Amino acid sequence: MNRSTVYPRDRLAVALDVPDLASARALVGMLRAHAGWFKVGLELYASAGPDAVKAVVDAGSKAFADLKLHDIPNTVKGAVRSLAAAGASLCTVHASGGAAMVRAAVEAQVPLDSSGHPRPLGEGRGEGPPSPGLRVLAVTALTSLDDAAIAEIGMTGGAAGTVERLLRLAISAGAHGAVMSPRECASARRIVPPDFVIVTPGIRAPGDAQGDQARTASPAEAIAAGSDLLVVGRPITRAKDPAGRAQEILDDIAHGMLERIR
Ligand code: C5P
Repeated sequence: MNRSTVYPRDRLAVALDVPDLASARALVGMLRAHAGWFKVGLELYASAGPDAVKAVVDAGSKAFADLKLHDIPNTVKGAVRSLAAAGASLCTVHASGGAAMVRAAVEAQVPLDSSGHPRPLGEGRGEGPPSPGLRVLAVTALTSLDDAAIAEIGMTGGAAGTVERLLRLAISAGAHGAVMSPRECASARRIVPPDFVIVTPGIRAPGDAQGDQARTASPAEAIAAGSDLLVVGRPITRAKDPAGRAQEILDDIAHGMLERIR
């Protein structure tokens, strides 16, 4: 997860967008050598709940609970506590839920200092739940939205402007990272603090079906642009040979990592 990590598998999160725990367990078993992370999203969480997060952790992988929380601050804070207790290492909240909501999510896990930034790990702990590794990511603009869809919601400035505005809000509220499309990644890197985690879904290699994703890039492009963690779902999980496809993506991630250090 941290940027000095050399292994491409630490940069890959496979989205477990499946309807039940048995299917999720089968994918984790098949892919855990290729991916360091598995993402539990709404479909699986709605069917299996915290057991889905626990299944990932029990397999020795890191769990990313992508529930994209968006509610009043107190409710979101409670949900983040519950996800921490289940063993998640990353979770998501919508930045558009507002700065107070994002701050509440961060505070559920990490006490903030007087300027609103998370205190270093280990400092001021004791009041939080038992998962000091949980980091809160703010979702900026969904990668399924293009400029027209963003304007339709009433947000100005297109995808780029919306992502930047929500990213600044997330940083000021103390979020540990943000989710955005790979296309906004390079400009985001210029404004985020050094340890800020950038996560990018919307990953498609040439030849992959676009599905409902609108703002996409290849694995190598996303990594070269500064992404820390790629979320890949259907290109792997619906492939005839998921492990083989995951390996191709790891090879592409490795190219992107080389590109980034050049
Ligand atoms: O199948 P695909 O690779 O498109 O899956 C992308 C995953 O990333 C889905 O689980 C989706 O919920 C998630 N995601 C996204 N856009 C965001 C945040 C999360 O596509 N902005």
